[in-house]
Amino acid sequence: MAKKIGILTGGGDAPGLNAVIRGIVVNGTKSGYEVWGFMDGWAGVLNGNAKKLILDDVEQIHCKGGTIIGTSRTPIFPKKGKSNVDRSDEAVKHLKEMDLHALIVIGGDDTQGEADRLFKDQRFPHVVGVPKTIDNDLRSTDYTFGFNTAVQIASEAIDRLHTTANSHHRVMVVEIMGRHAGWMTIEAGMAGGAHVILIPETKYDMNDVYKVIKDRYESGKGYTIIAVAEGIEETSESKETDAFGNVKLGGVCETLEARIQEWMIENLEKPYPEFKFEARSVRLGHLQRGGSPTAFDRILGTRLGVQAIELVKNETWGHMVSLQGTEIKAVKLEDAVGGYKIVPDYRHEEAELFTGL
Ligand code: F6P
Repeated sequence: MAKKIGILTGGGDAPGLNAVIRGIVVNGTKSGYEVWGFMDGWAGVLNGNAKKLILDDVEQIHCKGGTIIGTSRTPIFPKKGKSNVDRSDEAVKHLKEMDLHALIVIGGDDTQGEADRLFKDQRFPHVVGVPKTIDNDLRSTDYTFGFNTAVQIASEAIDRLHTTANSHHRVMVVEIMGRHAGWMTIEAGMAGGAHVILIPETKYDMNDVYKVIKDRYESGKGYTIIAVAEGIEETSESKETDAFGNVKLGGVCETLEARIQEWMIENLEKPYPEFKFEARSVRLGHLQRGGSPTAFDRILGTRLGVQAIELVKNETWGHMVSLQGTEIKAVKLEDAVGGYKIVPDYRHEEAELFTGL
């Protein structure tokens, strides 16, 4: 009888997830395994909700966004400072009842953290990870799939904002996803030619932002594009958190819009009496996560899925497949979780050559 492999996708979706699923199902099936998809992340494991995936289910899915098996931010282990109960017994019970040989966990830091705990707990140690996040902030891997697509979407948005901002002589603040790290903002800001880039890793002073705006107005370039990472400050007043304790972000662009417009009205000289100093904000939000993945993310996702099956074949438990240069290698789950890969200073310094800040 064929050995069974379970797979799940957890956390925020990312373009390329379906490519990973296809890679796993194709290599897994051709290697003689049965592949079962748990629905909606760890929730599917807790509820014993899984469906068998065959080759027909994954045909051409690598071109599609989202995940065909759904996702959620459901934990199985208790979290520090949260009241959620330990549900790992239920999870292990269902994994064993299904007689699974291995579980492949596709997700970011929170989801891989659960995978690492399950591996170390030893009640179900046959665990392999596949790194995922559009934020690109997972350690032990050069890039995560989804990031390339998200950067492409954000840089196209910045391209479009240039013409409208220029026509109206406005400041445009564009908010880009990125909770702990400013990878998407720095790359999209560079690609799109933003005039100011603000990321969580770098301290900023509003007076420096105002100086860029003033210099541009005074030199006749009457508009400014500001790319800002959602994580520069936690602006959410509700303090609403997900099950992993992450505060719901979003809205920093609106705060900046109001501050900048007020400062311009008070501090800049009008070019003619009727002129109005105006700022506008755009929150790209989930537009960056939806839709079809780029060729880069399709290929990276496919290769990671294929190699995850190789880890299962070699019984490399407690490891995650990872892009290192152009190769896919195995790294320990424990080295990837519990911290973030942030933008190093030199990347911001490179960007600063082209921005005022
Ligand atoms: O998956 C990462 C991410 O996209 C972050 O950039 C963002 O802060 C968060 O997810 C948004 O999560 P949700 O979809 O739950 O609003």
